[in-house]
Amino acid sequence: MSDLKSLLHPKSVAVIGASKTPGKIGYAVIENIKASGYTGEVYPINPKEQEIAGYKAYPNIKDVGKPIDVAVFCVPAAASLAVAEDCGQAGVKHLIVITAGFKEIGGEGKKLEQDLLSIARKYGMRITGPNNLGVMDTHTPINATFAKDFALKGNIAFISQSGALCVAILDWSLQRGLGFSQFISIGNKADLNEADFIEAVAEDPNTKVICLYLEDVVNGDRFIEAARKATQRVPVIVFKSGITAAGAQAASSHTGALAGSNTAYDAAFRHAGVIRAKTMTELFDLAIAFTTQPVPNGKNTVVVTNSGGPGIVASDAVETNGLAMARFTDDTHKELAEKLPPTANIHNPVDVVGDAHADRYKIALDTTLKDPNVDAAVVLLSPTAVLDIAEAAQITIDAAKANPDKAVVASFMGGAKVEAGVKLLNANGIPTYPFPEPAVATLRGMIEYGKLRREVANTTEWVFNDVDKEGVKAIFDKVRADGRDLLLGPEAAAVAELYKIPAAPSKLAADADAAVAAAEAIGYPVVMKIASPDIMHKTDVGGVKVGLKTKEEVREAFGTILENSKKAEPNAKIYGVEVQKMMPKGDELIIGMAKDPTFGPMIAFGSGGVLVNLLQDASFRLARGLAKSEIEEMITETKAYTLLKGFRGAPPDDIPALVEAIGRVAQLCRDFDEIAELDVNPVFAYPKGLSALDVKIKIK
Ligand code: COA
Repeated sequence: MSDLKSLLHPKSVAVIGASKTPGKIGYAVIENIKASGYTGEVYPINPKEQEIAGYKAYPNIKDVGKPIDVAVFCVPAAASLAVAEDCGQAGVKHLIVITAGFKEIGGEGKKLEQDLLSIARKYGMRITGPNNLGVMDTHTPINATFAKDFALKGNIAFISQSGALCVAILDWSLQRGLGFSQFISIGNKADLNEADFIEAVAEDPNTKVICLYLEDVVNGDRFIEAARKATQRVPVIVFKSGITAAGAQAASSHTGALAGSNTAYDAAFRHAGVIRAKTMTELFDLAIAFTTQPVPNGKNTVVVTNSGGPGIVASDAVETNGLAMARFTDDTHKELAEKLPPTANIHNPVDVVGDAHADRYKIALDTTLKDPNVDAAVVLLSPTAVLDIAEAAQITIDAAKANPDKAVVASFMGGAKVEAGVKLLNANGIPTYPFPEPAVATLRGMIEYGKLRREVANTTEWVFNDVDKEGVKAIFDKVRADGRDLLLGPEAAAVAELYKIPAAPSKLAADADAAVAAAEAIGYPVVMKIASPDIMHKTDVGGVKVGLKTKEEVREAFGTILENSKKAEPNAKIYGVEVQKMMPKGDELIIGMAKDPTFGPMIAFGSGGVLVNLLQDASFRLARGLAKSEIEEMITETKAYTLLKGFRGAPPDDIPALVEAIGRVAQLCRDFDEIAELDVNPVFAYPKGLSALDVKIKIK
């Protein structure tokens, strides 16, 4: 772990290329440091000047002769290597390299960035950037950026891969009155990356929530480690741009076709306890809520409204966001019935109706928020002529204060009429929105965080100690020695068996006699499949025959399969035919693995069979750290789950056996990095047990 205290709270800062010329970046940075009220030592470095912004200037950083925590680079890229050498010799700890012209321009720039990093490593210096806006910490306080303004003091840490976005958000936040603890522009991430900064700000007592704008993650493992730790203390919300499948590896497997880098980011964020914001608006809606409201203990939500329509809109949003409309206790119903007029709806949504004065909001909120079945509240208001809106706002604020473990959000709908009330709510930490849906979406994010935080704290990787790793290694070695990367069916089935993943018994037969012998040994009926590493989808070429019950049928099938396969793929290397026990029909599932370049193997589960790509019914989790409860949850996310539970009177399938098989596939993929692709499709699930019919494994 990197200690970034001296970067965020430096005792001394040098600005290399500090300038007296307004309009220059070296001018903006030194002026910003001064204007931010920074109380540490400031050393402008400029060969031509004696003094800049009231500070004594030095021709070279080596002339300062005192300890320097941070050096901010405002000199052209061409000067950066020499300047970095000087910094190293002067004992500087951190370089904030604002300068552009590195990796982002490719070619020479890439090399320059590598050389800069080498110098930093040589002297044990850390780099923020290059190509960034700088860093600010409002509590230190220091503004070591060239932004136009300094952020308001607050509790949101914002870490951004885009400098331009930083300045835009900053400007917006000033208008909105939103405060930040840190504003960190990470630029090209030559050295320090998102994981380092998540670790650093999570430890900062002034930070209550961490927001990130990311285009990519440098090191998946480091990110997950840092985020899992951070999310135990503060929420981490990420807006990740670039949601196309571009980063996904080209794969020939079914699972590969179902996966994409976006799926991997979703799986990684969930495993790390990170909330993914779908929009920039949601990112900051959540940030505001997390800094003002408690994380609800559950998802039971009450909606209080003075009009029916918005009440229904909010109730719908509660359902579609996966929250639940709270069911009140009898006491709550009784109290509401006693205190509210008969025209009011005392069930959830609680409708105090259009003629309500503010006192009815007080009754509804005080009564429902103390109900143990209520975790959160959405307060809706339509501006009627009889309602004192500021008073309703104050009642909402007081009710939230009186129930500090319940989250309260509001939507006072309208314009000028509700403005004063909205201002009052915002100023008193009640997140408020123009319409009900974003209010509910915010609650969903908060509740999801609470759930993920508990999961991260309570789950550990599911490990099986009864697997035969050496046996699998021997099979892979043999396949490699044979010059192949794709395992033949019987080899893949053997790998599965060594990890106690139940596979249908199968044997390889080089000729018709061997096929008959294999069938006799396994027992009829059998299935026969072409055994060739060059034929991935065997059914498509006529390379599969099922339901063979006699010697004669087996002998004939051997000939037909060989003939069909040779016709369809004349250049395919054929090892013979696989003879496999014909298993009784079960519900068809897929368990698979696709490899993500950033986060490693991802395990898929869903509806299987030949229609797998058409059905697109799969859920994904990272193999890394995969816990039993995560597997149980991923199963429930699929349509296949409906079948597994027992569809239309059918008995339920053996879900525990399935959960275990997925756990074992995950371990196989973790244990063998050389597994490039893996599909178990179909897996037949039965009321008792399951059977993997077709195991495909491709190794590197
Ligand atoms: N040591 C100390 N000072 C030096 C120096 C050195 N080795 N080399 C040059 N300087 C001084 C210059 O004399 C000048 O000071 P002056 O104004 O008193 O003459 C100052 O440093 C800046 O150098 P200059 O050549 O004028 O550069 P510049 O200000 O035009 O541009 C950068 C420098 C860093 C701003 C520019 O190269 C750059 O990278 N711009 C893009 C930044 C960016 O967009 N970042 C990403 C944001 S998200």
